[in-house]
Parts: sequence; C-alpha cells; structure tokens
Amino acid sequence: MKVCNTKKEIRTVRDEFRAQGASVGLVPTMGYLHKGHIELVKQARATCDRVIATIFVNPTQFGPNEDLSSYPRDLERDFAMLQDEGVDAVFVPSPQDMYLLGSETVVETKRLSRILIGRIRPGHFQGVTTVVTKLFNICQPDYAYFGEKDYQQLQVIKRMVRDLDVPVEIKGVPTVREGDGLAMSSRNIMLTPEDRIAAVALSRALNAAEEMCVSQSVTARLLSNTIRSRLEEEPRADVQSVDIRDAETLTSIRGRIERSVVALIAVRFGSVLLIDQRVVTPSQVHLQKA
Ligand code: PAF
Repeated sequence: MKVCNTKKEIRTVRDEFRAQGASVGLVPTMGYLHKGHIELVKQARATCDRVIATIFVNPTQFGPNEDLSSYPRDLERDFAMLQDEGVDAVFVPSPQDMYLLGSETVVETKRLSRILIGRIRPGHFQGVTTVVTKLFNICQPDYAYFGEKDYQQLQVIKRMVRDLDVPVEIKGVPTVREGDGLAMSSRNIMLTPEDRIAAVALSRALNAAEEMCVSQSVTARLLSNTIRSRLEEEPRADVQSVDIRDAETLTSIRGRIERSVVALIAVRFGSVLLIDQRVVTPSQVHLQKA
C-alpha cells in the first residue's frame, strides 16, 4: 500500500492506475477507522481494480465550537487496517496542502445543506462538499463510497455530483452496527461508558418506528412523536432533532405516509452528537385499506 502525503504523490499513483486501464474506487474518510469504514473499503475492493482511501480530518466541516481538536486519530492503526483490506494507496494530506493560503472557493448545495443537520451545524455540508470535490479532482475516481449512516451527507453528495456533472458514480453502503444496534461511528469512542450504554436508545427508537409502519397506517407526526418519546425515555439523551422526510429529496412529509420516507435523528450525549437514520416504507396492506 502506497502512503501519499501530497497531492503530487497521489496524482502520480492515479496516473499509474490510469495507464494500467484500471477502474478506481475512492473511500474518503477522516480516519480512526471502524468496521463501517472497512465495509466501504470491502465494497470498493469487490467492484474496482484499484482502491484509494483518504484520511483527512477536514477542518472546514467543523464549526468553531466543535470537536476538531479532540477528533480521534490513530494513523498507524488505520494504515494496518487498510493494508489488511488490500487498499492500493492511501492519501493523507496536511491541511496546508489541501487548503492553499488564500483559498476562497467553496462548493455548496443550497437547500439540502441548510436543512436538518445543516441547521444544527451551519457550514458543515459546505465543508463536506468542498473537500469531497477536491478529493474527486485530485484522485479522479470512477466510483466513490459513502455510508448510508450519514444519510443527509450521502444525499448532499449525490445531488452535488448530479448538479455539477461530476464524472464519479456514488455508491451508498448500508450502516454497520455494534451488537446492541448502535451505528458504528468514530465518535462512539468519545462517549462516557454510561452514555455508550444509553446510546442504544437511537436504534431502539428507530426499530419502534419501523415496526409501527409495518403494522399500521401512520402519519408523519405520529411516527415522529413515537420516535421522540422513545428517545426521551432515556434520561441521558438530549434529543436535538427527529425528522421524517422524503427518502430522496429530504423534503418535509405531512399527513399520512404513502411512500418511502427516512426517519433522521440527532441526539446529544454530553458533548457528543450522534446521528442515525432508517428508511421506512409503509405497509401496502395498510395503504390499500385506508
Ligand atoms: O464522512 C466523513 O468521514 C467525511 O464527512 C468525509 C466524507 C470524509 C469528508 O470529509
């Protein structure tokens, strides 16, 4: 596995892959890898001739009071995990190399980046779309892999690629979970032991929502109230948002649920913000009855 610390180095590697006629899959990460990232790598490995992973804790997607400095890092462990999965090259740039002095150009999806998490974390998605565009331009992959756990991020990136005709195919990969249902995230390590146990509340609340949609006809409000009250049963959970949205456009849903929707939740445990999601489709049986 080649470790590239500069844009110049990774471009040379990319040129070699292109000269070989190889298809290239990109797995962008902020490091401190877990099984969720490894699943992205496995999917890339299964479908592409060459796999490039990137590790870059992108400062522009963190707000002034967010956890940039405490974001967990362990490069040696990350390299070992990527090597084990047969990654061909890893790009680990410095912030100075990524953002040249005087950088002032950004990429932003207007509506999609300002709703939901974008309201809690203003500027976050602009940072994501800008760095992802840069990574695409630098590494020029044929395919790029993102987790469905960060559902809004996935929709934002898909929309950006569509709107700007970026020649990359985006692949969404299902969420990988801990044994108790907590979605894998690099942030889980920052939870206190008590909060880690309590954090199972997220997947429990989403399970309840899914069961409800299967067994009866529901409105968006009922679904959202059910999720919220389930979350609030856990005293350590500080519920930031519960949203029921169209699964693709993320527009608000009112009234009875008649198509696939996504339930998006954001919950704070101390200073750690956890998110989770579930796409739910109403039962055909209940739709016909109504
Ligand atoms: O999902 C992440 O880890 C980051 O938002 C990403 C896509 C690597 C951009 O920094």
